[in-house]
Amino acid sequence: MKVLVTGGTGFIGSHAVVSLIEAGMKPIIVDNFDNSLPSVLENLKAITQTTVPFYKIDCNDQEAVNEVFETEKDIEGVIHFAAHKAVGESVINPLKYYQNNIGSLIVILKMMKKHQTPHLVFSSSCTVYGQPDQLPVTEHSPIIPAQSPYGNTKQICEEVIRDTVKSAQTEQDDFQLNAILLRYFNPIGAHLSGHIGELPLGVPNNLVPYIIQTAAGIREKLTIFGKDYNTPDGTCVRDYIHVMDLADAHVKALQLLVNKKQTNNTCEVFNIGTGKGNSVQELVQTFEKVNNLKLNYEFGNRRPGDVEQIYASVAKANQELGWQAQRSLEEGLRDAWNWQQKLMK
Ligand code: UD1
Repeated sequence: MKVLVTGGTGFIGSHAVVSLIEAGMKPIIVDNFDNSLPSVLENLKAITQTTVPFYKIDCNDQEAVNEVFETEKDIEGVIHFAAHKAVGESVINPLKYYQNNIGSLIVILKMMKKHQTPHLVFSSSCTVYGQPDQLPVTEHSPIIPAQSPYGNTKQICEEVIRDTVKSAQTEQDDFQLNAILLRYFNPIGAHLSGHIGELPLGVPNNLVPYIIQTAAGIREKLTIFGKDYNTPDGTCVRDYIHVMDLADAHVKALQLLVNKKQTNNTCEVFNIGTGKGNSVQELVQTFEKVNNLKLNYEFGNRRPGDVEQIYASVAKANQELGWQAQRSLEEGLRDAWNWQQKLMK
């Protein structure tokens, strides 16, 4: 099965490409290297011994996307990762986010319709829940107005997909579309080989990239944002999921879509996390322990827009997707550090 992977050289996308190949699927990558490097393609080859077809295009460029569909002919599924993801930048430059994240999804959906491609897996985020009243969050927990344009784009994209699936149900339209929206919690880690991992360009915004760059001496000190939250140790709580587990969830999602062919035009949502919350301080301490090193860190002010705590209910993913996280927090933090060390060699 040919699967178009937009943003396939990015952090989650590249790991998903590995999982797809391992599952016997045929990924085709499109990426514009906006937040990734061409070297990822070589590194994917080192892991998979496969040369993955690649197109350097922007998903907002409808003609270019159309050409990929025409060249490849029988693309059956799309995993749409390509998007901007820096929460802070989205507040400063909202139009960049609305245009890119929503615009590219619209192009992808139009081309799926034109070329009769029936299966879509979309990268959504737990950010759609904001700060939930009840934990763990289930897929039925309320969606609250997002704190950032980035979060808004995820909510809006989910609606765009739902409406498009609904429209495909009408009798006048013979377009078949099935979609799965995966709401990711916090991805960490890297491929066990150390060939691919998270490669933020510039100063990292996310916790684990900042930690490994501090451990590597690239950053002087990690600041833990806030020590006065209403959590066991006063620092924020998140659900940290190994990127390879997250990658595997995409394979399961595609398999479910393909197997459910008889019930066309459905849109399902799944939380993809471990079901367990860990505080920022716990994460730092675990990093130190598994990698046998000391991290230079201090406590600072809260970061505006951060939610206090969130972790997933993964019952639906367990039951309906047949998926659950296999890798521990320790493995995620060991693999992330292994990746950073390899980068420096
Ligand atoms: C955010 C988004 C999420 C998005 C993800 C990827 C929200 C609520 N969440 O996750 O949707 O998918 O970014 O870009 O918008 N921290 C520190 N020091 C640091 C960096 C982070 O203490 O230098 C803390 C944060 O305060 C937070 C935790 O680490 O409590 C995780 O932060 P981060 O990795 O940035 O992810 P989220 O903000 O949870």
